[in-house]
Amino acid sequence: MFSMFLLFCLCWWSLPGVFSSKTNKIQSVSVMEEESVTLQTFVTKIHDDDDILWIFGAEMSLIAKISIENQIFSTFDDVLDGRFKDRLELDPQTGSLTITNITTQHAGVYKLEINGVKRSSKTFNVFVYGPLPTSDITRDCSSSSSSSSSSSSHCSLVCSVVNVSDAMLSWYKGNSLLSSISVSDLSISLSLPLEVEYQDKNSYSCVINNPISNQTTHLDITQLCQPCPGMLVLVLT
Ligand SMILES: *[C@@H]1O[C@H](CO)[C@@H](O)[C@H](O)[C@H]1NC(C)=O
Ligand SMILES: *[C@@H]1O[C@H](CO)[C@@H](O)[C@H](O)[C@H]1NC(C)=O
Ligand SMILES: *[C@@H]1O[C@H](CO)[C@@H](O)[C@H](O)[C@H]1NC(C)=O
Repeated sequence: MFSMFLLFCLCWWSLPGVFSSKTNKIQSVSVMEEESVTLQTFVTKIHDDDDILWIFGAEMSLIAKISIENQIFSTFDDVLDGRFKDRLELDPQTGSLTITNITTQHAGVYKLEINGVKRSSKTFNVFVYGPLPTSDITRDCSSSSSSSSSSSSHCSLVCSVVNVSDAMLSWYKGNSLLSSISVSDLSISLSLPLEVEYQDKNSYSCVINNPISNQTTHLDITQLCQPCPGMLVLVLT
């Protein structure tokens, strides 16, 4: 009974894999800089008449090749000015390709071509993320001096990060999301405002995240929400 169940599971499990390799669906892979990533062929054993090619980027550079028949088992890490130097590893059993110590230069499209009795191909889109910068929460005195009626009981704050790309900056009150702003490819600075009351006892945090990691900076209202230097002048005039 158990083995029948197992068999059923295995069949059901393997179906999506088969379909995806035939339909050449693009698989997205996200990885942190300096880590390794393995692009899986999902082949259990390479057949004698199979050729396996790994191709990178818009230039369609051949970076790895396996041909059992011709006894070729090679990585070509001198392509693209040595961008892949000492970074490619081929699994002799499966043909899966590992890129070690990855950098943003290795982000992009990798294509796997298997030419044998059957032809199939598969495309991987590899995204490489650098470490997240820490966000900084500061008092925003410029906006409270614009003398809104609430400015005396409210404290304006800004959470900001510099030189960030492909990330999102958000304010949380406890566990609920209050606001967020995101940036795509371009490396820029981001800032996101927040107004709290001086007496607010909730816990607020500013979170920066990308698809694989996040960093939280907690807001300390009593420490940050001191009267602005300009406030006194404003009161006197
Ligand atoms: C990873 O690559 C960087 C250059 O991009 C190099 O400085 C560093 O030594 C490499 N680390 C390892 C463990 O190979
Ligand atoms: C942000 O990027 C600029 C230009 O790339 C650089 O000059 C500056 O030092 C960076 N700032 C930080 C805090 O990393
Ligand atoms: C931050 O990352 C942790 C795991 O590292 C995850 O549990 C948590 O939900 C993430 N938080 C946000 C706000 O994305």
